[in-house]
Amino acid sequence: MTELSVTLFPENPADDAAIERLVARTFGPGRFARTAYRLREGNPHRRDLSFTAYIGTMLVGSVRLTPILIGEVPALLLGPLTVEPPFRSHGIGRRLVEKALEVARGEAHGPGAARLVLLVGDEPYYGRMGFKRVPRGQVSLPGPVDPARVLVCPLDETPLEAVRGPVRKGFSAGTERASA
Ligand SMILES: CC(C)(COP(=O)(O)OP(=O)(O)OC[C@H]1O[C@@H](n2cnc3c(N)ncnc32)[C@H](O)[C@@H]1OP(=O)(O)O)[C@@H](O)C(=O)NCCC(=O)NCCS
Repeated sequence: MTELSVTLFPENPADDAAIERLVARTFGPGRFARTAYRLREGNPHRRDLSFTAYIGTMLVGSVRLTPILIGEVPALLLGPLTVEPPFRSHGIGRRLVEKALEVARGEAHGPGAARLVLLVGDEPYYGRMGFKRVPRGQVSLPGPVDPARVLVCPLDETPLEAVRGPVRKGFSAGTERASA
């Protein structure tokens, strides 16, 4: 595999247009119908926990984390994760996810901090980064979802059995709680 010189940065508002274009190209108009989108709509993502991958001046990848609640447990929703097609299979997706988890973990013991990261995605991919399936029936999302694709990665010692209840929009520490 060719080594690419990739740099990760916390997301910057100046990245918004390029990220939107990449996400639109990757997921198409169907993205607005996805259950995960319902959790992100009107619920700003955490820029400080969202990362971009650059090669030179070109944005080639993005991952976003958005505050959610699972039952009453503060958590983060991971996604969308996208890498420009020509630059896939160079470890950029994995690095983006690992960076976001590392920084989220760094604040996991603070008051009101997120204790888990949840996503809707493929276990064969995300399993390598520490994500596990939520046992069927423990959580409900605001729309249809294949239970085999509901995955979580704890940021602290929170056991999988404690991941229970409805998943809804959360709030960032220091901001108003979004109405559920
Ligand atoms: C998923 C995605 C972000 C991975 O980015 P990437 O930079 O190629 O990821 P990595 O280099 O860390 O890993 C690539 C490996 O994962 C594999 N992989 C990619 N998507 C996978 C999936 N959905 N399930 C299982 N394996 C997958 C690739 O085949 C590749 O395997 P290889 O190393 O043997 O070639 C990228 O393929 C992408 O943008 N896909 C479209 C959007 C998408 O599906 N996002 C995830 C939504 S759940």
